[in-house]
Amino acid sequence: MKTATSIIALLATAGVAYIYPSTGTTSLREEAAKKNLLFGSGAINPTYLEDPEFAAVLADQELQLGNIDTLVQFAEANNMVVKGHGLISSCCNPNYLLNITRPEQFRAAMKAHFNAIMHRYEGKVDRWDVVTEALETQGGGLQVNDFYKVLGPGYIEDAFRIAREAAPYAKLLINENLVESIPSKRQGLYNLVSGLVAKGVPIDGIALQMHITEVAPIPGVITDMVNSYEALGLEVTIAEMDVHTLNATLQADIYGAVIKEALDAGITDISFWGFTDKHAYTWVEGAKPLMFDENYNAKGAFYTTHDALQNFVHQAINDTAVHYGCRNTRSVAAPAQ
Ligand SMILES: *[C@@H]1O[C@H](CO)[C@@H](O)[C@H](O)[C@H]1NC(C)=O
Ligand SMILES: *[C@@H]1O[C@H](CO)[C@@H](O)[C@H](O)[C@H]1NC(C)=O
Repeated sequence: MKTATSIIALLATAGVAYIYPSTGTTSLREEAAKKNLLFGSGAINPTYLEDPEFAAVLADQELQLGNIDTLVQFAEANNMVVKGHGLISSCCNPNYLLNITRPEQFRAAMKAHFNAIMHRYEGKVDRWDVVTEALETQGGGLQVNDFYKVLGPGYIEDAFRIAREAAPYAKLLINENLVESIPSKRQGLYNLVSGLVAKGVPIDGIALQMHITEVAPIPGVITDMVNSYEALGLEVTIAEMDVHTLNATLQADIYGAVIKEALDAGITDISFWGFTDKHAYTWVEGAKPLMFDENYNAKGAFYTTHDALQNFVHQAINDTAVHYGCRNTRSVAAPAQ
């Protein structure tokens, strides 16, 4: 807490960001802001903010974070949007919860937890991953997790209803992995979510984790998902993107291709699972999955991401300029002129 406060004071009094290796480009944040896009980073441990370089790169490049006080304060000081991740997850649940076997009591505990967290960050966290990884990793139905064991498959619906009550205006998302690469799991998620929508469960969208190992999603898959969820009235976001491979060229290509397709498809909320390889997690030994290296130098993946974003933004701005141009021409030609 003390550390966080002093970092914020440092940024406030210094007025300008800490110097870190220049990317030689505009920041992702600057480009994204031109079209109201969110580019963010998750997987931030608040202690990382003690590293002034980490804090500076984050403030300059990224727009959203995890859900702890320190991070929320940092985000406020740097005019960032904050997303809460994982109100319900299969991992790491506390003993007091695991000890409850009666559904009513279990639901009440969920409600108490959601209320405590969501009310604490009311007005500060405007979107939540309410349920993460509900499906079996390789597909094939719902995971029989701690919530399923007591409440059955209805726990997902319960969670969204409780979350909506606790945070009437927040965006509520379901977060899932590997759906972009496993067709049957993609269909499984769609069946689950369309079922929720049909029942009137308050859900606003999908958060694709987008942890990629070696192979990019097949072109068109992200676009198809955006279209099919849009038809249900839902938004698709990218929540935890990173690319695990030892081939830096391939990594850069995948970053660029995924971001391009996502933006073209209409995705406006994109987060990465961190941004510096200094604080990265990988299951491919030796892989460096993120956009900046351990010393905060921008990598190929940063530049392909930046290009995809900048091209998208410029294209969109040109399109708008053409429309305004037509309108101006007409008004100049109008009789009253
Ligand atoms: C959960 O149950 C175990 C075993 O009955 C007990 O030892 C433990 O204290 C309980 N934990 C909580 C937090 O209630
Ligand atoms: C790395 O990826 C690039 C781009 O896909 C490819 O052309 C190249 O052959 C790969 N290099 C190795 C060593 O596999």
